[in-house]
Amino acid sequence: MHSMANLAAIVFVVILKVAVLWPFTAAQLRPDYYAGVCPNLEGIVRSSVKQSMVKSPISAPATLRLFFHDCATTGCDASVMIIGSTGDDENPDGYLLKPEGFQTILDAKAAVDSDPQCRYKVSCADIIALATRESVSQSGGPNYTVELGRYDGRKSTDRSVRLPDPSDNLDSLNAFFSTLGLSQTDMIALSGGHTLGAADCDFFKYRTGGNDQSMNPSFDAQLQETCAKQNFAFLDDVTPIGFDNLYYRNLQNGRGLLGSDQVLYTDERSRGTVDFYAANQGTFFSDFVIAMTKLGRVGVKTAADGELRRDCRYPN
Ligand code: HEM
Repeated sequence: MHSMANLAAIVFVVILKVAVLWPFTAAQLRPDYYAGVCPNLEGIVRSSVKQSMVKSPISAPATLRLFFHDCATTGCDASVMIIGSTGDDENPDGYLLKPEGFQTILDAKAAVDSDPQCRYKVSCADIIALATRESVSQSGGPNYTVELGRYDGRKSTDRSVRLPDPSDNLDSLNAFFSTLGLSQTDMIALSGGHTLGAADCDFFKYRTGGNDQSMNPSFDAQLQETCAKQNFAFLDDVTPIGFDNLYYRNLQNGRGLLGSDQVLYTDERSRGTVDFYAANQGTFFSDFVIAMTKLGRVGVKTAADGELRRDCRYPN
């Protein structure tokens, strides 16, 4: 009889704890987070991103970079989307986050909210994570499961921005990524995101003209010519809109665009991983997915410190 009473007491305490912790446990990430409230979420985002990619080849690279920038700065909370009323926000002009990435997210959010079941129930942070997966997979990269349940942050300031520098050496890159809980292997796999998109000449011009011995001389000449005509060059100029492992093969040939790209091959401590990904696209894809999943867990907000933003550009 006693043990029955004890059991009942234990069950009561467990239920009470679950009830008290609900707002926090509810924000634990899981793939089926929206299954009840917005069952068609993934399909809606998939077709919206598809349309964005048809409209512009910049959509996919810009969205992938937006996700990295968002997660690396105060966590994956869509704070990068906020337009600060005084001009102070995470996206001042210097970082060159392209408008096509923001538009991809705003269009996906509008598509989600046009479904009455889903309206205002899905966070902007989760829409960024899903739109990023679509940008990668619809560019030929891996199609992976996305964990969901992030809340949106309420703040966005320029001074909170923390990003690696394109001239960083391996130690600096490792130091930066370790603050996000990411390993050197994660960092090398994520750098493979530079299989898509372009960089402004200002970020790599200092390496050209024979100033960087790790740069292939014919690539050097090609970049000087490119930058004389336009202000950008592709990060992977072999397949700039295809998500593949040619980024790593370029590094083997001294054709990495940014200093932070080429150093992954120049430094013997990371060269083995570059060689491995250059030879095994499947392993690159699976390590990229592992690293993106870890990146997607950085600084996740809960109902206690976040909200479901109605307009991704402004806190509610
Ligand atoms: C390892 C440290 C990294 C550095 C130093 C770095 C730096 C840069 C720079 C300077 C640009 C050029 C921006 C411009 O001129 O528009 C760029 C572009 C880009 N970055 Fe990174 N990045 C890093 C890591 C990452 C990661 C982890 C991802 C995603 C997984 C990523 C995805 C991209 C993409 C897709 C672009 C092209 C954007 C576009 O064409 O609009 N980067 N990055």
